[in-house]
Amino acid sequence: MKDRELSVIAVDDDEALLGFLKRAFEGAKSFVSYSSAPDFLARAELERCDIVFVDINMPGGQDGLSLTRHIKRVAPQCDVVVITGEATLDNAVAAIKAGAYDFLTKPFSFDGLETAVDRCVEKRAISAELRLIKAAQAELAAAYSQLKSAERMKEAFLSVIGHELRTPLAKIQGGLELLRDAPEAQRAALTGAALTGARELHEVIESLILYAESSKEAAPENCAAVNLDELASAVAEELAPRAAAAGVTLTLRRSEGLPVVEGHPDWLRSAFRQLALNAIAFNKKGGSAEIAVLDKPGHATVTVSDSGIGIPKELLSGLGNPFYQVADYLTRKTGGLGLGLAIVKRVAEAHKGSVTVRSEPGKGTAFTVTFRKAGACAG
Ligand SMILES: Nc1ncnc2c1ncn2[C@@H]1O[C@H](COP(=O)(O)OP(=O)(O)OP(=O)(O)O)[C@@H](O)[C@H]1O
Ligand SMILES: [Mg+2]
Repeated sequence: MKDRELSVIAVDDDEALLGFLKRAFEGAKSFVSYSSAPDFLARAELERCDIVFVDINMPGGQDGLSLTRHIKRVAPQCDVVVITGEATLDNAVAAIKAGAYDFLTKPFSFDGLETAVDRCVEKRAISAELRLIKAAQAELAAAYSQLKSAERMKEAFLSVIGHELRTPLAKIQGGLELLRDAPEAQRAALTGAALTGARELHEVIESLILYAESSKEAAPENCAAVNLDELASAVAEELAPRAAAAGVTLTLRRSEGLPVVEGHPDWLRSAFRQLALNAIAFNKKGGSAEIAVLDKPGHATVTVSDSGIGIPKELLSGLGNPFYQVADYLTRKTGGLGLGLAIVKRVAEAHKGSVTVRSEPGKGTAFTVTFRKAGACAG
C-alpha cells in the first residue's frame, strides 16, 4: 500500500498480525503498533492519526469496543477498523455502534485490507469535501449578510442624506426668496441666514466627499509633516463660536513636545473637527469639552473629551460604522449624517493609527486617536 498519506496505528496482541500490517503499511506516512490496550492508552498519539486498527478481543481487561469508543471520543478524525476473529452480526453491529467505520475478520488477505483502507480513504475524501462545502456555505452566508447590511446602509444613507440636504437648502431658499422683496434693513440678516444654510450644505457635502476619499491610504503627494498642536489649535479656534452658542466651554491642551506626524493635513484636521463637533453637540449647557495633544516617543495622541451625555456601554461597539447613531435619527435633537466617527476611523486607519473610546452615560466621553510619528503615509 504505497503512496498513501496515512498515519496508521494498530493495537493487537497478535504479533504476527502486527508484522503483517507493518509490511502492508510500509509506504504510509507513519505506522505505529501497540501490543496491548494499556500500552496504546499510555503512549499513542492520536492527534494526527487517520486510521486505527483495533483487535476486538485483547487480554488485559480493556476490550476493543471500549477502546473504539475512547478513540472516537478523543480523536473523532480517526477512523477505527475493528479486527475480529468471529464474523458475527452481533460483533459487526456492536463495532459500528461503538463508532467503528469498518471491520475485518481474521485471517484477512492484503486485498481485503486494501479494500477496507480504500473505503476509509474514500470516506475521508468525502468528509473533507463536505467540510469544504460547509466552509463555502458559511462564506456565502457571511457574504449574503454583508450584502444585506450594505443594502441597509444604502437605505439609511438615502433617508438621512435626504433630511440633511433638505434642511440647509430650505434655509438658503427661504432666505433668498425673502431677500428678493425685503427692505434694506432686513437684507443683511436674510443674507446671513442663506449663507448659514450654504455653509451647512457645504459641510454635509464635504463630509460625504471626505468619507469616500479617506477609504484609502493618504497618497504621498498629499502628505506632509503635520504639527498636531497647530492643527488642534486651529480646530479649537474655528469651533469656539459654535461651542459658545451651545453653552459649552471648549479648551485646548497643547503638548509640551513637538507632536509632528507624517500625514494628510486636511484629513487630520477634519477628523479632529468631527470629534470636537461631537463633543459640543452631545453635551449639555454649561458643559465642557477639551482637545488635548500628547507627544510621546515615536507616537502622538489627540484626545477629545467632554462632560456630555455619554454613550451606553453596549452601544460603543457600533461607533465608527457609517450612519450609526446612538439615538434614533428622526427623534433626536441633533441632526447629522452619522458619518463623523466613520471619517475619524477611516482617517486614523489611513494613517496606520487607531481610535479608542471611553464613555460613561451622563458623565462624558473621550475619544483618543493615536498616530505613529513616521511611516504613516502610503509609499
Ligand atoms: N462625544 C460624544 N458623546 C456622546 N455621543 C456621541 C459622541 N460622539 C458620538 N456620539 C454618538 O455617536 C453617534 C455617531 O457619531 P458621528 O459623529 O459618527 O455621527 P453624527 O454626529 O450623528 O453625525 P455627523 O457627525 O455625520 O454630523 C452620534 O450620533 C452620537 O449618538
Ligand atoms: Mg458627528
